[in-house]
Amino acid sequence: MKYLVTGGAGYIGSFMVKRLIDDGHTVIVLDSLERGQESKIPNAVTLFKGSLLDKDFLSQLFSEHTFDGVFHFAAYISVPESAKKPELYFNNNVVSSLNLINKLVEHNIHCLVFSSTAAVYGTPQIVPIPEDHPKNPESPYGESKLIVENMLHWYSKIHSAKFAALRYFNACGAALDGSMGESHQPETHIIPNAIEAAINDEEFVLHGTDYETKDGTCVRDYIHVLDLVESHVKAMNLLHSGHDSFICNIGTGSGFTNKEILTEIEKVSGKKLKVSFTDRRAGDPSILTADPTIMKNVLGFEPRYSDIHTIISSAWKWHTNEK
Ligand SMILES: NC(=O)c1ccc[n+]([C@@H]2O[C@H](COP(=O)([O-])OP(=O)(O)OC[C@H]3O[C@@H](n4cnc5c(N)ncnc54)[C@H](O)[C@@H]3O)[C@@H](O)[C@H]2O)c1
Repeated sequence: MKYLVTGGAGYIGSFMVKRLIDDGHTVIVLDSLERGQESKIPNAVTLFKGSLLDKDFLSQLFSEHTFDGVFHFAAYISVPESAKKPELYFNNNVVSSLNLINKLVEHNIHCLVFSSTAAVYGTPQIVPIPEDHPKNPESPYGESKLIVENMLHWYSKIHSAKFAALRYFNACGAALDGSMGESHQPETHIIPNAIEAAINDEEFVLHGTDYETKDGTCVRDYIHVLDLVESHVKAMNLLHSGHDSFICNIGTGSGFTNKEILTEIEKVSGKKLKVSFTDRRAGDPSILTADPTIMKNVLGFEPRYSDIHTIISSAWKWHTNEK
């Protein structure tokens, strides 16, 4: 099969590209490289360097290539940045997705797997969170993803477009040999930031120790990037097999506290972290975990690598390899 991967030079997209190549598919990456690295793209892959916001560039791509399906990762992903610059997020995440979806309809390309997020839910009324939980995004980032999901719903009803929107909880981890891994600019995720603090012998600031959880720190649901990629393969196969469009959480259904993450980093690294504790951050719910029932029953997918040791040890290998 021939696939387009938007955002294939980013963290998750580059793992998707590797998996598709390993499975024998032909892959074209579309990436502006604004927040990704060309070095992450294997030689066997053609890079179309440019933005989804550029309609002429998109027309050129689709006049030269057709695809059996599209994995759409390209987006800006920082919640704090989106709270300061909403215009960036509505433009880059919503307008760019609309440009892409219109091209897919124009060229009769039917199968799209879209990277959505648990941020569409906002503060949960119940956990684990089922897909039909009310959607109350608390940032322009979450809202931008919800808008795209809603657009996809209508395109799927009105045109013959088919989509899977996968609402990831916390993507994490690295290749088991440490050859590929997470690097965002800016980095806002706890695992890479705490690992960098351990490597550089710097202070790590932990927000909030008075949550109603077993050790007072927030609980988040972490999914290893290798598992995440597997869920995309399953989702694309389901669409190819004629399944209707669907929305699905991607998480384990349980989670780890922030303290558990830090303790595991100390165990794996053999280093003592210098942790300073501060107040809660506004808008950080106590517990965010996915109800994985649809993931298990419809997608037929079970995570294999999302235990805390595999997540932290692979990430540690990647960060220390990088030095
Ligand atoms: N990382 C997570 O924990 C997480 C959680 C939930 C959802 N997601 C979603 O997964 C997707 C991938 O996340 P990631 O962590 O790999 O991010 P990333 O920043 O590493 O990768 C995004 C890639 O998209 C490219 N890009 C951005 N805007 C573009 C545009 N307009 N045109 C072309 N290329 C563009 C960037 O250059 C970058 O290479 C995103 O859609 C994100 O919202 C990520």
